[in-house]
Amino acid sequence: MTISRLVSSESASDVLTARFREVFGASSCIFRAPGRVNVVGEHTDYNDGFVMPAAIQFYTWVAGEKRGDRVLEVYSEHFDEKISLPLDALAGPHRGHWSDFIRGVAAVLQNARYKLAGANLVVHGEVPLGAGLSSSASLEVATALALISLSGFDVPRLELVKLCQKAEHEYVGTRCGIMDQYTAVFGTAGHALMLDCRSLEYQMLPIPQDVRLVVCNSMVKHELASGEYNRRRADCEEAVKLLQPHLLGISALRDVAVADLEAWKQVLPATVYRRCRHVVTENQRVLAAAKALQSGDADRFGRLMYQSHASLRDDYQVSCKELDLLVDLASSSSSVYGARMTGGGFGGCTVNLLRADASDSFTEHISQAYLEVTGIIPEIYVCEPVQGAQA
Ligand code: GLA
Repeated sequence: MTISRLVSSESASDVLTARFREVFGASSCIFRAPGRVNVVGEHTDYNDGFVMPAAIQFYTWVAGEKRGDRVLEVYSEHFDEKISLPLDALAGPHRGHWSDFIRGVAAVLQNARYKLAGANLVVHGEVPLGAGLSSSASLEVATALALISLSGFDVPRLELVKLCQKAEHEYVGTRCGIMDQYTAVFGTAGHALMLDCRSLEYQMLPIPQDVRLVVCNSMVKHELASGEYNRRRADCEEAVKLLQPHLLGISALRDVAVADLEAWKQVLPATVYRRCRHVVTENQRVLAAAKALQSGDADRFGRLMYQSHASLRDDYQVSCKELDLLVDLASSSSSVYGARMTGGGFGGCTVNLLRADASDSFTEHISQAYLEVTGIIPEIYVCEPVQGAQA
């Protein structure tokens, strides 16, 4: 019952070129941007903290061709739908439609004074939607690259990352951190990135040959999660305001040490305190995990992953019973070093660190056990860290 999703890059670009020809005629450019798995460091990015994502081998592809007018005509393969967006009338609230991402990216680029040319675009996505593997950021980044290339601009890569994040805030309505867009652009083959979300500097951490990152998709969609996500972020911001009079100089939870949080917990509502406890301990786990990876200590790394999951489940309260089950099932296998939910939560995927020689037996075991309990067939992806967005 091994389920794997392996779309070779070549076949995806062939599919896209053929589709483009069908819908619009010939295309002049194709860009792709990868999804990501976050190995450890969840809900820390919008607290100026640390994360450890890796770009993975599922891409969103965007093929494009310039038009003579000021219109974007966009066809989505997934939704089998074509929409039209006038470049001079992009403003407006989010509509809960896939085109919000395209409209948002085009609007923020233009507001940043990159006056775009009209274009025909075809979007083809391999990143599972609503699975916490960052299909949104990969769509934003691939779209942005296609639009700026067709318009003849060169946008610095970090600016591109920030503009895509802004598009998601303003046109999709999720006040996300910077991790996903950053990884879609700066991901490095064979490595996880240890990203400092304050300085926006990263360190490349090689994934050792003898371990694998395996993602288990619970197939539970996190569609309703953006309200909860924004609420978590608001809790963290409230905590900073309440702690500031007592902890001089702090501007984000990144600046709060575990001991300081304990010392001032009485100024925080009980739930907000628990949210903070997750964030401040998670930042420490990322730093410890980076050291463990560098010294080849997979056991220690794995323990930190389990601790991260428990903290997300109990303190941050963004897990769900299917994700907890996948982590429990993984923990009963001796070839697994660690497992945790990954991404925003409320469904989606777990990430598992395991012995490289055990990925087939692990896949078999977890698929069967998960199906028996839930009646749901999970998808299991053995991940390869890949390079960020490219033409
Ligand atoms: C989503 C957001 C990210 C990050 C994660 C949680 O993927 O887009 O910025 O906050 O959730 O770690």
